Order: sequence, then C-alpha cells, then structure tokens
Amino acid sequence: MDVLELKRKAERYGQGHLFRFFDSLSPAGRENLLRQVVSLDFDMVGRLAGEFMRGANPAEPAEEIEEADIIRLPRTEEDMQRDRKARAVGEEALRAGRAAVFLVAGGQGTRLGFDGPKGEFEIGPVTKRSLFRIHAEKIAAIRRRYRCALPWGIMTSEANDARTRKYFENNGFFGLPADSVRFCVQESLPAVDFHGRIVLDAPDHIHMSPNGHGGSLKAMYASGILEWFASLGADTIYYFQVDNVLLRIADPTFIGHHILGGADMSLKVLAKKDPYEKVGVYALKGGKPAVIEYSDLPAKLAEARNPDGSLKYWAGSIAIHLLDASFVRRLNESGFALPYHKAEKAVPFVDDTGRTVKPREKNALKFETFVFDALPLARRVICVETRRWDDFSPVKNATGLDSVETARRDMIELYSRWLEAAGAKIPRDESGRAINPVEISPLISLEGENLEPWRGREIGPMTVI
Ligand code: UTP
Repeated sequence: MDVLELKRKAERYGQGHLFRFFDSLSPAGRENLLRQVVSLDFDMVGRLAGEFMRGANPAEPAEEIEEADIIRLPRTEEDMQRDRKARAVGEEALRAGRAAVFLVAGGQGTRLGFDGPKGEFEIGPVTKRSLFRIHAEKIAAIRRRYRCALPWGIMTSEANDARTRKYFENNGFFGLPADSVRFCVQESLPAVDFHGRIVLDAPDHIHMSPNGHGGSLKAMYASGILEWFASLGADTIYYFQVDNVLLRIADPTFIGHHILGGADMSLKVLAKKDPYEKVGVYALKGGKPAVIEYSDLPAKLAEARNPDGSLKYWAGSIAIHLLDASFVRRLNESGFALPYHKAEKAVPFVDDTGRTVKPREKNALKFETFVFDALPLARRVICVETRRWDDFSPVKNATGLDSVETARRDMIELYSRWLEAAGAKIPRDESGRAINPVEISPLISLEGENLEPWRGREIGPMTVI
C-alpha cells in the first residue's frame, strides 16, 4: 500500500482528515486504518453525501400512486376455499423441500439500546427465550412437521457477526444441526458528518454501518447461500427480520399464494391502525408494485379514504417476503442496484485530542438500502393480507410503541387465544386482557395445535407450555 498515494486520494475527495492522527498511530493502528481506506469507494460516498446534503431523496415522495391487487383476508366461503388451496400447495412445497428461510439480523438496534445483537434479546414473557431461540424453535418445528431440510441463512454485519455466531455455538444452535444454518456478512458503508466528511470513531478507525436490509439480496448471492439453497432443491425463500416475535415462519398459505401466483417476490401486509402508523404502504407507483415509506407518503394520500370511510392506502408492509431464487440470481447477474436512503443518527466520533465521544444528538448520515425496493424489479408480485395478532409485533424500542412491553403483551394474547380456542379458561381483566403471563414453545405448538390437554383447565400465572 502506498500511503502517500492513499493520502492524496483521500485529500482529493475532501477526506484528508482521515489521516490526521496517522503519524502518531502504532504500526498495527496504521494498518487498521489503511485497510479500511483502501476498501473505501470514495466516489460513491462522495456522491451519496453530496446528494443527501443537497436535500435530494432518491425515493422521491410519491405524488401519484394507485391501489394494487391484494389477496384479502378470507371473508366468504369462496375465500376460505382459495386459502385452503393455497395452503395445500404451500404444504406440498414444504414437504418437497422447496422452502428455505433467510433472516436479516445485521441491524444495529439503536432504538432498543441493547448491548449486543438484537436476536439475543430475551423477549419470552415467562421463559425469557431470546428472539434467536424463538425463530430457531419455529424452524425446528416446521422441519419436523414437513420432514424437510428448510435450510436457514442468516445475515449479520461486521459489527455483530462474531458475537452472533458465538451465541449460536454457545447455545448448541438451539438443537438444530450446525450445518443446517449458514451465516453471511452484509456490506458496510462509512457514516459521514453533516459536511460530508467520513467519520472516524477512533484515531485508527472509520465508523462503518451496515448497508441496510436491502444488502441481503447481494449478501445471499455473494456468500454462496443461494447456491447452497439451490443444492438442496430450495427455490422459495422466506425472508424475515429478527425483531418480529409473532411472524409465522414459512407460513404455508403465504407460500402457496406465492407459488400459485408465479411471483418473483411476495409480501405480507396488514391494515394500518391509522393513516400515520409508521409502516410503509404497498401500492402501485408509476404502475409498478412498491412499498412507499411512511415518510415519503404525502398526507393527502395517507389520509385518502374510500366512499365507505376505509383508508384507500390501508396496506402496511410488515417486512415479510418470499423471494424466488431465480429472481435473486437474476438481480445479481444483471448488476442491479437498489436506491440508497439516508438516516440521521448519533454516531461516535473522535475529537481533536483523539478521544472517542458518544454524542446524544444526531451528528451523521448513514446510507441504507431497503429490501422492498426490489419489488418494482420483480416481474410479478403477490401481496397477501394477514392479521396483526397472528404475524406482527416488532421489538423496536425499549418502551412505548413497538417495544419489549408490547411484544410480550402480544405474545401472551396470542397464546391465550390459542388456549381459549382449545377450551382452556383464561382469566381476563375488565378490558379483556389476559391477566396471566403464558408462553408456549413453538416446539409444542406453531399455530395453536396440540393444546387439547389444556381443555377445561384454567391458565395460572407464569404458565410455560
Ligand atoms: P431496522 O430497520 O428496524 O433497524 O431493522 P435496526 O438496526 O434493527 O434498529 P434501529 O433502527 O437501529 O433501532 C429491521 C431488520 O433489518 C435488519 C435488522 O437486523 C432487523 O432484522 N437490518 C437492518 C439488517 O440486517 N441490516 C441493516 O443494515 C439494517
């Protein structure tokens, strides 16, 4: 590495400050920094920083959108038959080993403020099962039910990769064969301050952040995980995010609709609680299927209503997708690029004395791609409505909305409903909430089945099933 040349290059791009502590660094520190500088794409960082500082938004606010076709929740006997047929097709695909699962767990979980990969967070309302364990037990149960391989790919990021792998090892892969789980690391990008300067978070280290969950489409391919899925005969990939405790992994009805519809990419949506719920909306933009971020949806569209008073753009995306393996391959082989979105964050930085400062205020921009931006690139998209209490409760914050508290409450409510349907008695308060925390292992019941032994019994506090 020619240090002088690198220095000059950085200066040419207005990033000469990256070398401001260089002369006082140890040989190892110099090597660290140089390794990072060599791999930087100065052109791209400069372009993104420039665009965002000028206020550009590559995801332009959606002025013109139209309603898209959505498979609604069943209301009629005909709808139920439609869903039964889809389920049968999905179950057949599972039995035939056509499904794989892919978890994105590379995020930094800043809102939760948990020190470590979010998947380690112990969310179980009674057992304190971690998010990773809950997902793993669901996968184990599906493999057992359908006697299928259901290979599991997991995307981490530089910051949490080693710790995530260690966590799986220390927990014996939660009973799954270690070779049925593969990890890959997503790409990272440097954060820049509000003047477009790349942030150093230590004298010898550039602050890098993962490139968003959209990075999964490349990481899955570049790491060989897609090939691994293919070698096992799996062509239908269930994509999910680490923080949704309720999601029904590899839901056969969803898989069936996706296959019957011949889709490249599918998504699940639910009815938004109100016009401003912070979820992206599924609609047609420029005639193509798209998820429009809540921040890019003008108020007049968010609030638009049908003659019967219902929201016109009601369909909130909950980041559950199915991807056809050939679609992911085609994207990668055609050199696709998803648009970058910016996020303003509080990022650690070094002050003039070389000390690391952790600011409370936002001081930098990060750049991320979103997986749903692949929807307009798909030849065919199928969108299926689901029920909130069945499929969606994300752990985003420590308290308040979409928090640890609401996720535990939603788990207790779901398990209580299942038990009630099986004939158990659930003590409830005046507002109808289940009083006693209860938790059911996915290894016992995935969808409310196998709970007959609880018929006629009252569910006491802290029940573990
Ligand atoms: P979020 O967008 O909620 O981000 O991620 P986050 O990092 O978990 O939390 P905050 O915003 O810092 O509080 C949704 C899902 O996408 C994954 C996350 O791990 C989570 O499963 N993700 C996000 C990645 O895998 N990589 C990323 O770069 C960003």
